[in-house]
Amino acid sequence: QEIRREDYRAPDWLVPAIELDFDLAAEKTLVTARLSVERNGEHDRPLRLDGDEIVPLAVLVDGAEARWTMDGATLVVELSENAAVVETRVALAPDRNSKLMGLYASGGLLCTQCEAEGFRRITFFPDRPDVLSRYRVRMSADKARFPVLLANGNPVETGDGEDGSHWAVWEDPFPKPSYLFALVAGDLAVNSDPFTTMSGRSVELGIWVREGDLPRTDHAMESLKQSMRWDEETYGREYDLDRFNIVAVDDFNFGAMENKGLNIFNSRYILAAPETASDADYDAIATVVAHEYFHNWSGDRVTCRDWFQLSLKEGFTVFRDQGFSAAIGSAAVERIEQVKSLRAGQFPEDAGPLAHPVRPDSYIEISNFYTATVYNKGAELIRMMHTILGPEAFRAGSDLYFERHDGQAVTCEDFVRAMEDASGADLRQFRLWYSQAGTPRVLARLEQDGAGATLHLAQTVPATPGQTDKKPMLIPLRVALIGERSGAELATERLILLDGEQSSVRFDDVGEPAFLSINRGFSAPVIVTAERRAGEIEALAVSDQDPFARFEAMQELMSRDLLAAIYGGAVETGATVAAIRSTLASNALDPAFKALAISLPTEAELAEKVDPVDPAAIHAAREAFRVAIGEALADDLEAAYAGAAADPDSLDSLAKGQRRLRAATLGLIAAGNPERGTELARRQFAEARTMSDRQAAMMALGTVGGDAWDEALDAFYRRFAGDPLVIDKWFSLQASAPRAETLDAVEALEKHPDFNLANPNRVRSLAGAYAMSPFAFHRADGRGYDWLARMIVAVDRVNPQTAARFVAPLGRWKRYEPVRSEKMRAALERIMAEPSLSKDVLEQVSKSLA
Ligand code: ARG
Ligand code: ZN
Repeated sequence: QEIRREDYRAPDWLVPAIELDFDLAAEKTLVTARLSVERNGEHDRPLRLDGDEIVPLAVLVDGAEARWTMDGATLVVELSENAAVVETRVALAPDRNSKLMGLYASGGLLCTQCEAEGFRRITFFPDRPDVLSRYRVRMSADKARFPVLLANGNPVETGDGEDGSHWAVWEDPFPKPSYLFALVAGDLAVNSDPFTTMSGRSVELGIWVREGDLPRTDHAMESLKQSMRWDEETYGREYDLDRFNIVAVDDFNFGAMENKGLNIFNSRYILAAPETASDADYDAIATVVAHEYFHNWSGDRVTCRDWFQLSLKEGFTVFRDQGFSAAIGSAAVERIEQVKSLRAGQFPEDAGPLAHPVRPDSYIEISNFYTATVYNKGAELIRMMHTILGPEAFRAGSDLYFERHDGQAVTCEDFVRAMEDASGADLRQFRLWYSQAGTPRVLARLEQDGAGATLHLAQTVPATPGQTDKKPMLIPLRVALIGERSGAELATERLILLDGEQSSVRFDDVGEPAFLSINRGFSAPVIVTAERRAGEIEALAVSDQDPFARFEAMQELMSRDLLAAIYGGAVETGATVAAIRSTLASNALDPAFKALAISLPTEAELAEKVDPVDPAAIHAAREAFRVAIGEALADDLEAAYAGAAADPDSLDSLAKGQRRLRAATLGLIAAGNPERGTELARRQFAEARTMSDRQAAMMALGTVGGDAWDEALDAFYRRFAGDPLVIDKWFSLQASAPRAETLDAVEALEKHPDFNLANPNRVRSLAGAYAMSPFAFHRADGRGYDWLARMIVAVDRVNPQTAARFVAPLGRWKRYEPVRSEKMRAALERIMAEPSLSKDVLEQVSKSLA
């Protein structure tokens, strides 16, 4: 049942071309597939075609009845020649496909999701990414219900049939793996725009949505055009078909999908209007649109040999979308956010029972490996190569990679080799980043003497499941020394490549006592612990010239004092208060940076730093800290709040940053003075013209609770009832409120008429939001765990992929204090005892209990 990377074998049969014929209807769709197959190498093995929940109605070889058998779900066809046309026919019921993999119905549409292994739910096929085929797709359907018929590539023919049906044929000239196949049929309206590529070819862009959603597609269209231009300018990558279509659907297992020429999106990453979407939503839309578009080269033109190589396309494409977001917004803020999300999602994964390398060695269900490690740590690996090689050599490596492997299915190793070949760099040791799991720890100590200073570095890589002995990694650390008196950088920043377990680096001519600014820009995804002198971290928090390092120093400072409060009970905020005051007062810093810098480490981040974890103690200490800061800085916070009033009609970086700073200051004001906070939040809610302002006000009210919170919830619901993306926010605001009463609200919401187990967005907005709210979820009585376990089992019956995503919050039971730990483990055992769990959930739960 476990698939291992080392067992990879080239396919026995290739399928250079396939013709698909769909007779589409929601209740019953007939699929006829004609595969031109060719024996690959010399062997006498039969053709094996993957299937999942489908049965063959007919199997023909070169037009004659075939010799075939079933081996489980796999169709085995005996072939005597080296080439043949194999035809199969199956019937599907899209409206009963609640797993949302394969062909399914969503809000009257028919659409597909094939990555990773959904194509085998549509037709029998060697459903693996190293089998590349040219697709010709014919669709016919009732014209009134499904007036629009879309597939990959370019449209070639259309026509009307009898009985009100119509048909269309699409052809994709680029050979592709089956996971990139897509079709959509439905009653859709289009926002279309022309785009001229750098070589002067003209492309018709289309964003397809329900008629009523058209006004909310402009931001996505703008983002798409910006992405296309950016990829030409930054990577020399040009679009290659006459059409580029995006379709938004409401029922979708994750963010979006890069099907060749026909991206399919979760509607939350397309639709936006200031009234309904927050600034964060706008930014996420730009990022996801860019991400999927960039896959056209990093994923589609060059794809993965097998699913162990997933980070080849995902890590690189995340790195590319991060570059795009940095270019269209603020690079400093972007970088801080990337690191925050890595720490929130990937560090815990790397430190828990589901830890795996960026290039995993084995899996049971590949859907479980679309992880923060493969995506976000994977992007950090690409970023480290960019840092080590420098931008020009990196670009040369990228050019070589695309040129060398265009049209191929390749490996992470091929990517690294292209980087080496183009630059002459030696990345042998660097490759360990792909194979060793776990977040490396770096200890740093700066020792000063008469003439200069010596930086002593040591690294360790923690043991992870199945990997006990680790080798030292190649860790690129951007380092500067900052003069204690002058506040200036004492020498130009250096890139130190730490390659051994220990090493010492000499800095000459350090004329004054120095502070250590290390891992600037977060040049390596590691945890650095630096020995600090008195006053060092306080100074760096208000003076480091590298914005990420300055943010980091603030975090280090606040963590130091918060950890002291968690362990010792004494709430000592003096240093934090001074640093926040100076940050708020700065004229040089932009408001978005200020908002990030003054935000306390989250409860989840603090939980990573203590052992064992007691969420109630963390919450109590952090709240006491917030109260003390809110009281001590009441005037500064009020002034900053008032000074950050943003133009509600603007979505530029300044306005977005101002709204963010208002949210951050409002939270602290409410902590220090709940009445004043409630008053301000109430007013902000009533006057809000943007979703960001409204949401921030609700968050402040949700922390305090009481009538103002209930009234806001009612008003919000009344105003946005029937708008699913906004009602998702209404669910998650309640499910994530950091209060003891939250579980009652969650249980009530589960019975709300708008709750729907079959819609992943809605399930995530309840179960996902709740499980990510440490204080509300980690109740000492264990009821939060029981609720989640029950929800996982219920969702699993409908949609295993979505259910499996909620196991991780329970999975880290070993880290918690004994009472909670035992209850978390018991909740996992209870899931495990359920009959007929999906392999998705089974893999996650059994690994968590191991
Ligand atoms: N390739 C898609 C993307 O990153 C996501 C596909 C996720 N698939 C899955 N089975 N979870 O853009
Ligand atoms: Zn992707």
